[in-house]
Amino acid sequence: MIGSLPKSVLVIGGGGREHALIQALARSPAKPRILCAPGNAGITAEAECFPVAADNIAELTALAIREKTELVVVGPEVPLSLGLVDALLKENIPTYGPKADGAHLEASKVFAKQILLKYNIPTAPAGIFQEVAPALDYLKKRGAPIVIKADGLAAGKGVVVAQTLAEAEAAVRDMLEAKKFGASSAEILVEDCLIGNETSILVVVSRRDYVILPVSQDHKRIGDGDTGPNTGGMGTYSPAEVVTPELLAQIDREIVKPSIDAIAAEGIDFRGTLFIGIMLTPAGPSVLEYNTRFGDPEAQVVLPRIVSDMLALLWAATHGKLRGFELQVHPDAAICVVVAAKGYPGKYPKGDPISFLSTLPPNTSIFHAGTAHNATGEVVTTSGRVLGVTALAPTLREAATRAYTVCEKIECASKYFRRDVGARQLNRSWFVVSYSACFSSPQQRSACVAAPL
Ligand code: AMP
Ligand code: GLY
Repeated sequence: MIGSLPKSVLVIGGGGREHALIQALARSPAKPRILCAPGNAGITAEAECFPVAADNIAELTALAIREKTELVVVGPEVPLSLGLVDALLKENIPTYGPKADGAHLEASKVFAKQILLKYNIPTAPAGIFQEVAPALDYLKKRGAPIVIKADGLAAGKGVVVAQTLAEAEAAVRDMLEAKKFGASSAEILVEDCLIGNETSILVVVSRRDYVILPVSQDHKRIGDGDTGPNTGGMGTYSPAEVVTPELLAQIDREIVKPSIDAIAAEGIDFRGTLFIGIMLTPAGPSVLEYNTRFGDPEAQVVLPRIVSDMLALLWAATHGKLRGFELQVHPDAAICVVVAAKGYPGKYPKGDPISFLSTLPPNTSIFHAGTAHNATGEVVTTSGRVLGVTALAPTLREAATRAYTVCEKIECASKYFRRDVGARQLNRSWFVVSYSACFSSPQQRSACVAAPL
C-alpha cells in the first residue's frame, strides 16, 4: 500500500462504464468522496456531478484543482487521446489512465498495428493506405471476407467486416474518398478477416507490472445472432468459459506480456487499462485491437465481479506499485444486457422518458449510459446506448434470466435490446452438459446448439 488511500476521486465520463466504475470505487472500505464529470441521470444519485464535458481538458483540469481531487480516473478514450492525463500530471494530480502517447495505441490503429508487427505479437496481416487505387488493388489480391478499418477514433463504428469485395470497395471509398470519419479515416488498414471467438482481456498496467482482470466477451453487432452493423457493444458476460486457464496462460505469454513489454520498450510509461481485443482463431489467439481504457460494456460485468478494493488497485497502478497485487474475484457469473434506442447505431430518437421498476431482483444493477433528467425531472434517453442491466448469479443462465426480467419491465418507447446476450456460452455449456442426451441425430444436435435463452 502507498501511504493512505485518496479521500476523493474524480471519475471522467458519463456512460455505463463510468457508472460501474463509480459503484466499484464506492465499495472501497476507504469510502472516498466521489465526483464525476459530466455523469448522467443514474450517476447523479451516487456521485457529485459537474457539467463539464469529457473532452474539455482545460475545464476538467481546473475542476480537479478546484475540488482538491486526490485521484482522477479517466473513463473514455477521447480525453485520454487529447492529453487529459498529461495535463493533470503536470498539476501533480495522481491520475489513472495513460498519457497521450499511450492512448495513441487506441487512437491510431496504424500505430498499434506497427507495434504488433515490430514485436512479433500475433495479429492479422494488413496493408496501410491513404489512396483508393492501391487499397483496391490490395483488396483484390487478398479477397473477401476482409476488414476495412479507419485509423482514428470513430466511436466503435470505424470497422467494416466486409463479406464481399463490393462491400469492401464501398467501405474503402466511404472512408478515403467520402471522408466518412473525417481525419480519422484519412488513413485506413485493410486487414485479413480472422474467424473465431472474440474475447476482451482487460489489464490494469503500471509500467511493466500488470494485473489481468476477469475475462469477458462482448456482442458487438446490433442484431440477434451477431447480425447487422458493429456497435460499441450490445452486451457482455464474464467469465468467458471459452478462455480456459490454459488458454489464458497462453494469451498472457504470447500477447499480454509481450504487449506490455513492447509498450515499455517504446518509452511509453503506461499506467492505466490496456484492453486487448483478441480473436481465438484455430491457429491461436490473435490481437484485433488495443484500447487504452476499460471496455464499455465490459466494465459492467468485470468490475462487479471484483472483490478486491478497486480504489487500492487503481491507486497502486497510478503510483507504479502494482507488483504483488493479489486480485480477488467473485465466482458468480455476470451478464450485462445493453438497452439501446431503436435505430442505433444509425439514427435514433432522443428525449424518450424511461420508467424503471420500483424494486430490482437481488444482485442486479441498472447502469445508466445515455440518460439525463429533463425539465420536469423525468429520466430521458440522450444517446444510442441508454442503459446496461447487469445481473450476477451462480450460473450465467440465472444471471441472464434476472437481467432479461428487468429489461422487459423497463418502459421506454424507443427501447431495443438484443435477446441473445450470453447465448453463445449458454448453448455451449448446455450442449456439453446435455451432450449424450441430445446427440442422437444431427437435427437434434443443431436444435440443441441453436436453443434460445
Ligand atoms: P476493432 O475496433 O479493431 O476491435 O474492431 C471492431 C470489431 O470488428 C472487433 O471487435 C471484431 O468483431 C471485428 N474485427 C476487427 N478486426 C477484425 C478482423 N481482422 N477479423 C475479423 N473481425 C474483425
Ligand atoms: N465494448 C468494446 C469497447 O469498449 O470498445
